[in-house]
Amino acid sequence: MSEIHAVILAAGKGTRMRSQRPKVLHEVAGRPMLAHVIDAAQAAGVQQAHVVVGHGADQVRQWAHAAGLALTFAEQREQLGTAHAVAQALPGIPDQARVWVLYGDVPLVDARTLEALARTPADGVALVTARLTQPRGYGRILRDAAGQVVGIVEENDASPEQRALTEINTGILAAPAGRLRQWLARVRNDNAKGEYYLTDVIGLAVAEGVAVQAVLAAEAQDLEGVNDRAQLARAERRYQQRQAQTLLDAGLTLADPARFDLRGELRHGQDVFIDVGVVLEGRVVLGDGVRIGPYAQLRDVVLGERCEVLAHSVLEGVRAGTAVRVGPFARLRPGTELADEVHIGNFVEVKQARLGTGTKAGHLAYLGDAVIGAEVNVSAGVITCNYDGANKHLTTIGDGAFIGSDSQLVAPVTVGARAFIAAGSTITREAPADQLTIARHRGQTSLAGWKRPTKKR
Ligand code: UD1
Ligand code: CA
Repeated sequence: MSEIHAVILAAGKGTRMRSQRPKVLHEVAGRPMLAHVIDAAQAAGVQQAHVVVGHGADQVRQWAHAAGLALTFAEQREQLGTAHAVAQALPGIPDQARVWVLYGDVPLVDARTLEALARTPADGVALVTARLTQPRGYGRILRDAAGQVVGIVEENDASPEQRALTEINTGILAAPAGRLRQWLARVRNDNAKGEYYLTDVIGLAVAEGVAVQAVLAAEAQDLEGVNDRAQLARAERRYQQRQAQTLLDAGLTLADPARFDLRGELRHGQDVFIDVGVVLEGRVVLGDGVRIGPYAQLRDVVLGERCEVLAHSVLEGVRAGTAVRVGPFARLRPGTELADEVHIGNFVEVKQARLGTGTKAGHLAYLGDAVIGAEVNVSAGVITCNYDGANKHLTTIGDGAFIGSDSQLVAPVTVGARAFIAAGSTITREAPADQLTIARHRGQTSLAGWKRPTKKR
């Protein structure tokens, strides 16, 4: 089988986006449209992708470089038409290869359509068409009496009868590289737009007796180009719906698939429930029985079995064991590691901190740069003063310690195991294990032999 090379057109300016950014770098589900096209191409068996850049060429190159993509670039300095654009990439493609023409602004092109394209004969031409009730603006597919494709006519050059045709050219086509090279050299620009039309290649192929096969796309909407923000928003919704459907099929419960956004990758166990308005980004892993409350945002988060994230919590760069409860209104920042059965309540911020099994911070606390043991009770208003204006310092809290309300732990500082910090204390030196430490305006005092309060009957 011949190698498949994709030529992805991405030279257009995207005037209607009204943006500084080149059109193909506008994002669907948090990734540039161009990235989606490259993914689909690779999934369908493309060996090498050639991107034709023009407007914003440097930005597109920079993005590809930063993303570590092995693409080749061809520059089209003037946008003289789609045939001219494809011709810019052909010098980098061997004659015996098969060329697929794809579009950087058609982000939803799916692997299924491309797989159908891959099944077409290697020496023929294949084009992806669609049936539209409103075919305005598209090239129309011309067929002869026997139903064979004989050409494409652009809207501006079409007769009223031709405009009435509802089978349109999506623009995606496949052709043998050697012949395509010859045909492109013969395309002229004597048409309504004065452009070199790639679509003229079809007529040339037919004239030479090369078979032209049409692959009818199952979902015409997936092959719609994005030219403005409204179309971008539509593409986003469709993409999200598609993802949601896949997740539902895999056993995830979504309270409302229309109010769920995944901008990245989700792996999930069984019986996971996601409430409305949840946004997941980056890589998210949710264990069996996890529940995510309404309007939570999770980015790069791994949650073990039976964890529960309550409404309006924001988690980024978090790893949690099993049965951890977070929120509502919690903020967990990168470097947060929560052991089993930790509880983080409302208005608690955690950053670069490890909390041991069963530790609780129920309300209004800041825990940054901290190593906190198991079964620690962090009361309301506790703050680790981790920053001295120049450097960050560590707070260490031993197992079973109790940190009273409104205490400040001025790092670097250590609180021993089972130590009890009296409410309102400012701790600047080590608080020994098993002792009550009280550090209010009278100064810090430690009481040896002090007993922790016991529950009244
Ligand atoms: C093209 C097809 C039309 C098809 C439609 C589908 C041609 C002549 N016509 O029309 O049959 O129905 O797409 O959307 O091919 N581009 C370049 N360099 C250029 C010109 C275009 O990179 O010199 C890129 C554009 O950025 C765009 C794509 O190619 O992404 C399509 O170009 P556009 O001018 O929008 O073609 P249409 O007129 O829509
Ligand atoms: Ca177009």
